[in-house]
Amino acid sequence: MADVTDEAFRQIIAKYSRHGELGGGPDVFFTEFVSADGLCSSGRNILLRDLAYSELEHPMVAQIFSSHPDHIFQAAELVRSLGFDGLDLNMGCPDKGIEKQGSGAAHIKDPQLAQEIIRVAQQGFAGPVSIKTRIGYNQETLDTWLPKLLETQPAAITIHARTRKEMSLVPARWEFIKKAVDMAQGSGTLIIGNGDVRDLDEAREKVQTTGADGIMLGRAIFGTPWLFDETRVISPSLYQRLEIMIEHTYLFEKLLSDIKDFSIMKKHFKAYVNGFDGAKGSSVNNLQDSPSASRNLSPFPQSKTAHRTYSTARNFFNQKDEILQKSEGESTGNYLRKSPKELRIELMATQKATEVETIVRKFLKMGQGN
Ligand SMILES: Cc1cc2nc3c(=O)[nH]c(=O)nc-3n(C[C@H](O)[C@H](O)[C@H](O)COP(=O)(O)O)c2cc1C
Repeated sequence: MADVTDEAFRQIIAKYSRHGELGGGPDVFFTEFVSADGLCSSGRNILLRDLAYSELEHPMVAQIFSSHPDHIFQAAELVRSLGFDGLDLNMGCPDKGIEKQGSGAAHIKDPQLAQEIIRVAQQGFAGPVSIKTRIGYNQETLDTWLPKLLETQPAAITIHARTRKEMSLVPARWEFIKKAVDMAQGSGTLIIGNGDVRDLDEAREKVQTTGADGIMLGRAIFGTPWLFDETRVISPSLYQRLEIMIEHTYLFEKLLSDIKDFSIMKKHFKAYVNGFDGAKGSSVNNLQDSPSASRNLSPFPQSKTAHRTYSTARNFFNQKDEILQKSEGESTGNYLRKSPKELRIELMATQKATEVETIVRKFLKMGQGN
């Protein structure tokens, strides 16, 4: 995901999801999408940084986009020379700027060009090429769009279960993943479902109900880099979350601060802190009684897995309660009276990792009653 799954975050995910160990890690990592036009321009050196990865992250797939077959070919050769395990072509991004270039979801409207792009990518990369797309442009058109993709025999097609028009505004329509799986039967192309999946349990459930060969998790990784550790039975404590956030921030600064703005980290701060947001003045029971509580807690308001939202929330509420109880009657520094929301606001004003660490350490120290 652009400005999310950069090298720093992927390394944090690899570490805290125990990638490469038994029961750990995703099956495959993807880069942020990278412009093939840019890779063929004088700005190439900066974009090459988006294709940097560590040995910890294999299997590693590079995602590129363009509407120019010659640029896709050159970029595919480049991606191969960088040792990537796979090449993914973005044919689903709804961003207007990307579509103006004839790329992303615009490919759905021009299947012939899409096929040409896939074929030159296959020639240039000479390894597994996959596609990331949607179920249609203005409406679901898998009957016409999917066969065009399958004709090119890609290794896999990841389908975000919404149309371009739907952006991410409606719940993902998983019935169409099942339809795509049926259509791709016997083609040799894997179908990966995507949209609104919160965790590995839900991913397994989707595989069961649709027959998909795999599931891609996107936003669920925000603030939860341990997401792919199957052996973990309880969520990291508040302290651990914030420690991971500090480590992530230092790594971002070390690897990327010369080319990326520190503001990128602020999305992550929100997500790391969100786990215990809303705790002030609420009890767990109140939340369980309130059907609207999941809306405050979940980044996926349309998710049907409210019970999971509640149980995750309960962990964090218990931790928060514990902090408040421990600190009661003890030192009453300013941070004792700070809510997670206030912590988040302070984090939003930071410009570097040391500031983040100072703020978090004060928050944690006062919480422990030290
Ligand atoms: C901030 C953000 C950046 C994204 N960047 C990309 C991208 O670079 N390439 C891509 O294929 N999809 C990208 N997506 C779309 C996601 O991969 C995914 O299709 C979508 O979020 C739905 O899945 P989810 O509900 O699991 O997040 C992005 C989504 C978000 C929220």
